[in-house]
Amino acid sequence: MLGESKHQSRIKAGTEHCRGFDVEKVGNRESQQAVTRVVSFTSGKGGVGKTHTVVNTAISLAAQGYSVLVLDADLGLANVDVLLGIQPKGTLHEVLKGKCSLDDILIEAPGGITIIPAASGVEEFQSLESSEKMLLMSEVERIAHRFDFLLIDTPAGIGPDVMYFNTAAAEIVCVITGEPTSLTDSYALIKVLSSEYGERTFSVVVNNVPSESEANIAFNTLARAVGKFLQVETRYMGWIPNDGQVRECIMDRRPISLAFPSSRAARGVVDVSNVLAKHAKENRVKGGMQFFFRQLLELSYGKEAAC
Ligand SMILES: Nc1ncnc2c1ncn2[C@@H]1O[C@H](COP(=O)(O)OP(=O)(O)OP(=O)(O)O)[C@@H](O)[C@H]1O
Ligand SMILES: [Mg+2]
Repeated sequence: MLGESKHQSRIKAGTEHCRGFDVEKVGNRESQQAVTRVVSFTSGKGGVGKTHTVVNTAISLAAQGYSVLVLDADLGLANVDVLLGIQPKGTLHEVLKGKCSLDDILIEAPGGITIIPAASGVEEFQSLESSEKMLLMSEVERIAHRFDFLLIDTPAGIGPDVMYFNTAAAEIVCVITGEPTSLTDSYALIKVLSSEYGERTFSVVVNNVPSESEANIAFNTLARAVGKFLQVETRYMGWIPNDGQVRECIMDRRPISLAFPSSRAARGVVDVSNVLAKHAKENRVKGGMQFFFRQLLELSYGKEAAC
């Protein structure tokens, strides 16, 4: 087991680094955007297609010339690496244990994207402690400013880590399907994020539906319910059709945006990535990740102090 002192010193170093975070450096980056746009992909219900959507959206953004970092935040049951057919050198598990830095585990993936992989089957990381959140925050902040986008693949549900990663994002993308269970679980997720964390705007991608009209019905049903009962705004980002090639690609561990770029699903992903890029351009200042992570830190410590 790792010595506590090393772990503690990494956390302390991370905290110091956070305080000294240089906003200028972000602005000096030679890229399409001045600040890193942090976007989380989340869902109330599991298995709706978050990971497939994140991975392919990242590839689609990279194809447009953006630099994209993907954080696999499903810390207990990670599978971004599985979908991309890559073999991580190390995972967030080792970083959080203080055994290595985030730079040591960053991995280049097909499509020109960079991945922060997490471990699968590590029960102890199913819920992060405050010190681990701080370490993760400072490590991610240290490297993410090199990228135009940081896309976060969150776990499903309404657990504390789901809240943590969504609150850290400038834009929360709720992935839904047309199934009533997906809609009710998304409603529950949005309810918690709005009532307890003050989130007011949610983007929505409808995945795995047979037609555009079914996508519209699913979006409108959710939008009406959350607009009426929770007073939050929802933005439609597009839809990704049910496409047999998605499953085929997952079985082959090849992202559909690379394997079948003209498939219906890959074209749906391109539309989603175009909307994301548009949102990033429209909200340059709000996307500054240092602000969101700092806000998050205050939130998580404020909550603990109140307990
Ligand atoms: N557009 C689609 N067309 C066909 N099948 C799809 C589509 N999207 C997702 N699927 C199917 O749904 C499965 C789950 O997708 P994925 O792993 O991306 O979901 P997830 O939301 O990340 O799940 P979890 O909550 O477990 O992390 C895939 O393995 C695939 O078989
Ligand atoms: Mg997933």
